[in-house]
Amino acid sequence: MARIPDAFIDELLARTDIVEVVGARVPLKRQGKEYSACCPFHDERSPSFTVSPVKQFYHCFGCGAHGTALSFLMNYDRLEFLDAVEELARRNGMEVPKETQRRNQDDDSRELYTALEAASRFFQKQLAGSDKARTYLDGRGVDEAVRAQFSIGYAPDGFSALRDALGTDERRMKLLDRAGLFSKNDRGHVYDKFRDRVMFPIFDRRGRVIAFGGRVLNKDDGPKYLNSPETALFHKGRELYGLWQVRQAHQKIARLIVVEGYMDVVSLFQYGVTEAVATLGTATTPDHAELLFRNAPDVYFCFDGDAAGQRAAWRALESVLPRMKDGRQAMFLFLPQGEDPDSIVRKEGAAGFDARLQQATPLSQFFFDELGKDIRLSTLDGKARLAERARPLLAQIPDGAFADLMRQRLTELTGVGAANANAPTAVAMPARARRPAQGSPAHKPSLVRSAIVRLLHKPALALALPAPYGFAGLRQPGVDLLIELLDTVHARPDISTGALLEHYAEREEGAALQKLAMQDIPGDEESWRVELLDAAHQLEKQLLQQRIDELQAKQRESGLDEADKYELRALLQARVARH
Ligand code: UTP
Ligand code: MN
Repeated sequence: MARIPDAFIDELLARTDIVEVVGARVPLKRQGKEYSACCPFHDERSPSFTVSPVKQFYHCFGCGAHGTALSFLMNYDRLEFLDAVEELARRNGMEVPKETQRRNQDDDSRELYTALEAASRFFQKQLAGSDKARTYLDGRGVDEAVRAQFSIGYAPDGFSALRDALGTDERRMKLLDRAGLFSKNDRGHVYDKFRDRVMFPIFDRRGRVIAFGGRVLNKDDGPKYLNSPETALFHKGRELYGLWQVRQAHQKIARLIVVEGYMDVVSLFQYGVTEAVATLGTATTPDHAELLFRNAPDVYFCFDGDAAGQRAAWRALESVLPRMKDGRQAMFLFLPQGEDPDSIVRKEGAAGFDARLQQATPLSQFFFDELGKDIRLSTLDGKARLAERARPLLAQIPDGAFADLMRQRLTELTGVGAANANAPTAVAMPARARRPAQGSPAHKPSLVRSAIVRLLHKPALALALPAPYGFAGLRQPGVDLLIELLDTVHARPDISTGALLEHYAEREEGAALQKLAMQDIPGDEESWRVELLDAAHQLEKQLLQQRIDELQAKQRESGLDEADKYELRALLQARVARH
């Protein structure tokens, strides 16, 4: 996919007022230079969420949520990056630049969406006209409201109902084919893929039809469910049936319930459990896990109580483990033999189903129960084996309280710690050392850091420091970052703090920069300018010294040639002059 140029993002953010974007969704109270509210990203009574019109970013002191208007839209409206960009662009009457290739692709997809939408409408109309299909849905107790909510339809019997209705010319035939709606026999004859089936359209995150699932009316007519094949628009390992409807039903999704079937989702909705989604006949993939936690902090996985259900649950656990950041929870619910959420909610109602969810097994318990299944923990060998099995899995959990508790639990069970499996020193240390803004010695705040903080507070200060920078080449943590920040502001003189941070949102430095931008620093714009210039001056002197040290070391080791000697003399004189 074509990348959207940074300059466009900057421009977009420059034209957007974050106070307006946030204020349209969360009631804001003015407080001095900033606005505050109760944080929309975590539950709280007293407001710790602030929006800064000057810096054009938001920050929550409670949960640490932060970002620009763009990230706010992504997190609050739960949009993907590109969709959030398009949303802001639309508000500002701007056109998102795309490379030609992507534009072609876009036109292509647009036509596919249209074809799928037309097919969905066709199936819905057919349902209205089919006694047989309506009788089937009546028989399963699917009410009218939920049929409409899920756009349930019916693909008629015969081999060419859809083809005859929508495949009116060569181009349309090709489109329907690429949309996955046709099958082809050995002789190349093209016919409707879905025949005599109840049709469940699958919607993407923006409510567009991207595929279908079709259920037979009679038990013996082929596979019970038939899904669209993978197409340009549909990758079943990345989609969740029902997610669109859940998002429509909730401004803030507290929990998601993952079930196995279309009918489970539909029935749960009908009975008022409006947080159910289904994987589409596949195991829970890492993409699913990501999507789930992007949408809700708590995820319940529902499985059959049989061995297959246990296996599926373990697969789900493996997918969520690397995503178990603090604040997220995964639970596992195993249903009695022969039941599924559809049958349970019909028998026990929403309250009964909820009660079962309350009793669901937390991930931590399921984890150790499963791993310890065939192990005798009373023996040393058993303990060792459990520790051995658990370690590589525990190492996948992101650092935080949950990871600590899981390791602690392993120690309780076995007497063996899990910490070394995570190689904390070998992996984490260099990462920290590379984080420039924090790389300062503890006894005095580094010059680089002080310069960066001031730049973040008032990006336009960079204009006082034109390139080439006298300290380029100085080997000190953060110098490259400082130069990059200066360059960015020179290219975009009116960039806001928020927009500047957006450049680093995906990078390792992002979090550290955000923290620096939040710092309260004394003084005003003018004093910051002086401090920035002073820091730059000091850094230049340090670069001078660095080069002198280099030359003097060379002098001791191998001697200097004429050019070196000349340079060293000049440097020493310059050093004197600068004092
Ligand atoms: P189930 O066989 O458990 O069906 O398949 P169900 O959801 O209870 O459906 P009803 O109640 O009999 O109508 C669960 C899910 O597995 C996928 C479908 O996504 C289905 O919803 N599946 C099942 C298939 O893809 N193909 C099949 O042949 C069967
Ligand atoms: Mn069922």
